[in-house]
Amino acid sequence: MAEQRAHWGSKLGFVLAAAGSAVGLGNIWKFPYITGVNGGGAFVFIYLICIVLVGLPVMIAEILLGRATQKSTVSAYRALSSPRSLWVSFGWLGVAGSFLLLSYYSVVAGWALNYTWLSITGSLVERGPDGMAPLFDSVQRSGSLNLVTHFVFMTLTVLVVVGGVGQGLERWSRILMPALFVMMLILLVRGFSLAGFGQAAEFVFGAHTDRLTAGGVLEALGHAFFTLSLGMGSIITYGSYLRRDDDIMGAAITISVVDTVIALMAAMVLFPIIFTFGMQPSQGPGLVFVTMPIAMAQLPAGGFLAAIFFLLLVFAALTSSISMLEVTASYFIDEKGWSRERATLISGGAVALVGIPSALAGGDGFFGAGMTQLVGSNWFSVADYLVSNWVLPLGGLGISLFMAWRVDDAIRHDHFLSGSKLAFFYKAWVVLLKYFVPFAIALVLLHAIGVV
Ligand code: TRP
Repeated sequence: MAEQRAHWGSKLGFVLAAAGSAVGLGNIWKFPYITGVNGGGAFVFIYLICIVLVGLPVMIAEILLGRATQKSTVSAYRALSSPRSLWVSFGWLGVAGSFLLLSYYSVVAGWALNYTWLSITGSLVERGPDGMAPLFDSVQRSGSLNLVTHFVFMTLTVLVVVGGVGQGLERWSRILMPALFVMMLILLVRGFSLAGFGQAAEFVFGAHTDRLTAGGVLEALGHAFFTLSLGMGSIITYGSYLRRDDDIMGAAITISVVDTVIALMAAMVLFPIIFTFGMQPSQGPGLVFVTMPIAMAQLPAGGFLAAIFFLLLVFAALTSSISMLEVTASYFIDEKGWSRERATLISGGAVALVGIPSALAGGDGFFGAGMTQLVGSNWFSVADYLVSNWVLPLGGLGISLFMAWRVDDAIRHDHFLSGSKLAFFYKAWVVLLKYFVPFAIALVLLHAIGVV
């Protein structure tokens, strides 16, 4: 007898887990820094439009494919096409992409772990403002340190995923997501009382159309995919643990709103501090690991605030990393009949090993300076380039073309309506998915190969 498929304990459980997947380093680390680099307001506005017109339709498509087939990504594509159909390649692409993404995501999460530890022991703020840039530099360079934090973070990820849908994914999302929100609120209140708050609000929400570039628009679009965890099967897989009567569109809207609110909150935590201390918003990737600590070192109770901030970053990363590992693990469970323990341990172990070059990428060895000399960038950047510029847009193109042009309208319609009170939006969703979404993604891909 086939084992019954595990399901979420409640609709809230699913929404929290999927929002946990969406809210991650992308929201707290990447969104503020690309907003800073792209000049604020206008970029944020375009980003919001991309979430609504591209992200939301694709998220609905992914949840629907998972819920309709009750299968993880490769099997889901197969179930609605044919066993040897080319469409199934998009399922494979998702498994491979999640695997590769997790391998370096875990390294950045490892930095956050390291900074949490330094904040708790007090040795972060002790270094003083001038010590922060050298600290980040030495953290990035130290291969052995990165290997340790990367392995610790992968162990945490495996421990959650081994627990399964209810006792692992859902239980931890229920604990970590509210905790994350409370910590964010504490930091936001602190930011509100700083002198730079008004300036920050003006930067993030002001018009500033003069600073927007075509590249910025495409970056906003690419980030909308990344931040909502789309294009790689995470949401398909989470959707496969939904019951038939759960409302897909309602859930997708809630998840997107939570994700967007957290990203905007993160920006309003970071920018007031940056403006209060007269620093540059356009610092790039070092914004969280250098600029933030510099400011923390000068604020009263800065060590405490830093500990909260970095712990929040770890929580956010963990509820995302489990959704990446779940894609690979559920592939082996659904397709190969492996036990959850075996599937999780083997795929988690393999990701940990594949992540070694990323952990060593800041150093002088082969995967760092060596590769940089050879191909112009280190292993970490190569992996991120492949995932962000190729796997995500191709995966997004795959799911939207598949749901819009291949899957029967009857199946699609039936599943959209079952559980939904928002039937009115069905037509709009199909039209967006058929024409607008593929067109927008095609622009991103053309940009990646340098045509536009
Ligand atoms: N959305 C997460 C973030 O913002 C990252 C993430 C989790 C992800 N699962 C994913 C990105 C799947 C792409 C695909 O950090």
